[in-house]
Amino acid sequence: MAKVLVTGGSGYIGSHTLVSLIKAGYQVVSIDNFMNSKPEALEAVQRITGQKAINYNIDLCDTEKVGKVFEDHQDIDAIIHFAALKAVGESVEKPILYFKNNLNSLLNVMDEVHKYGINNVIFSSSCTVYGEASDLPVTEETEMKEAESPYGRTKQIGEYVLKDLSGIWGTNVVSLRYFNPGGAHPSGLMGEAPRVKALNLVPVITETAAGKREKCIVFGDDYDTRDGSCVRDYIHIMDLADAHTKAVQYLLERKNTDHYEVFNLGIGQGVTVLEAIKAFEKVSGQSLNYEIGARRPGDVISIYSDYDKAKRLLEWTPQYTIEDIMRSAWKWEQDRPY
Ligand code: UD1
Repeated sequence: MAKVLVTGGSGYIGSHTLVSLIKAGYQVVSIDNFMNSKPEALEAVQRITGQKAINYNIDLCDTEKVGKVFEDHQDIDAIIHFAALKAVGESVEKPILYFKNNLNSLLNVMDEVHKYGINNVIFSSSCTVYGEASDLPVTEETEMKEAESPYGRTKQIGEYVLKDLSGIWGTNVVSLRYFNPGGAHPSGLMGEAPRVKALNLVPVITETAAGKREKCIVFGDDYDTRDGSCVRDYIHIMDLADAHTKAVQYLLERKNTDHYEVFNLGIGQGVTVLEAIKAFEKVSGQSLNYEIGARRPGDVISIYSDYDKAKRLLEWTPQYTIEDIMRSAWKWEQDRPY
């Protein structure tokens, strides 16, 4: 049974991926200091899978403590590195925090990867690395424009660091560029539960409908898009988790042709903010209290993926739609255990 170390195992994508890995028969170990997540997420993993994930409550920027985890688990076969700060706006206010946290943690992990000869690494990247792409949909070949935020820059730098290290050491690395993750585990037992106020569209919609917010503001309806609001590619968290398990399998089976490879993970469909709201209204049967507001600084206008590479090489096909995302997110919001 291969052993996978997951950093950020208690986070939104991390916890769903732990479930997917355990179900596929992997042994898992998590590192998470609950900086922006809750320990209850790990309890949910156990409730869903019947297995407890060992977690180390340590800061990945603490070199010594990170070293101790790898010393304890010298049989790690693959690592998925999720742990990072991810709020675009906050990263503009606190760029040093973002650069220190996201980059030092990555370097500490990679130092240990080299020390213990671990051959397989998966990195949480983002469609944010493309910036404002001129041609849509974006493929992995689409050039990276300047990052729109320090958060985006940490993902670009992270990718370059990994590309260089994989070239020098021969370590196999896959960077997964997520588009906009949303939704929750269909059981309603696990979902998005950040400690900080949610800023992403899907939780803003469900929290508004649940009465936790007064209204949802649509950030601009005067863009050059079909209804004036921004276009994104929303991907269900279950599809995203599944892609990570497939990426681990891909590396362990040595299917990669280059030491460093990149994959887009989206569903290949652009959805506007107003369409996302309509999808929510349709599946929930209630109308959302929203109004049109000003544009949000730093927003790209339109982005969606071409995920053909992941389909061909990882043998991954997304199963869920924007309506499934809204349905599961709404179920989660209405009866949240944590
Ligand atoms: C961005 C990044 C993504 C990153 C994520 C982390 C890009 C293209 N995407 O996602 O890679 O992982 O941040 O948080 O850089 N919106 C509203 N009202 C709201 C909230 C959002 O209208 O209250 C709109 C936004 O203007 C945007 C869409 O909804 O058009 C999605 O926004 P959000 O969920 O915040 O994600 P991104 O900013 O696209």
